[in-house]
Amino acid sequence: PKQAIVLVAAGSGSRLGMGVPKAQVRIGDATILEHALRACLASRIDAHVCVVLPPGDDTLRAVVDHSGGPSVTVVEGGVTRQASVRAGLSTLPSTVRYVLVHDAARALTPPEVFRRVLQTLMDGAEAVTPGVAVADTIKSVSDGWVAATPARAGLRAIQTPQGFTLQLLRRVHSETSDADITDDAMLVESLGVPVRVVEGHPEAFKVTTPLDLMLAEALVRRARE
Ligand code: C5P
Repeated sequence: PKQAIVLVAAGSGSRLGMGVPKAQVRIGDATILEHALRACLASRIDAHVCVVLPPGDDTLRAVVDHSGGPSVTVVEGGVTRQASVRAGLSTLPSTVRYVLVHDAARALTPPEVFRRVLQTLMDGAEAVTPGVAVADTIKSVSDGWVAATPARAGLRAIQTPQGFTLQLLRRVHSETSDADITDDAMLVESLGVPVRVVEGHPEAFKVTTPLDLMLAEALVRRARE
């Protein structure tokens, strides 16, 4: 395939407080990793999927072996998200043109978001991210004091899958390494390359806290009814 999806699932999930790696946490009848893999496959993008797992996690490896299919491979991740993405990128053949980097924690991301991102790459953008309008007013805070209030209309909460040409993403990962970088679009921005923003989806939220898990469980239950 000319496309690849790097599914990063090597995080610890400490904010969820379940005592196991987040990708092992269940939403209804399946783990976060299984839901995330299903979402990638449901997009029907003809893609090689590289799943990045916590080192030595045989439980998650078994999940991928069981539900992955022929075009899914596994690699061990690193200490930071950026290191995990880099590990995934290193396994991709150079015949891949476009790569989507997706958080497994966004387990219920609808297929249309994957397709929108890929289509925008095919239309010529080098870097694409989904984003959604924010409901809250967001303030920049310094030492407990309000420093600034950016106009809400211009703000987007950024999601994944983020899409890039493989060439660009490999280049930015080899040139930049910074502990404060939280997504791949930020790496691309730091090199001055424009990043296109497309509409994300409320159900592509990242399962981070126990409250998120309750919402995810309700969505899965609704889908079963
Ligand atoms: O920690 P954060 O919420 O930014 O994690 C987003 C995604 O990156 C999660 O799916 C997580 O599994 C993944 N991750 C990773 N390797 C790390 C840290 C996070 O694959 N070292």
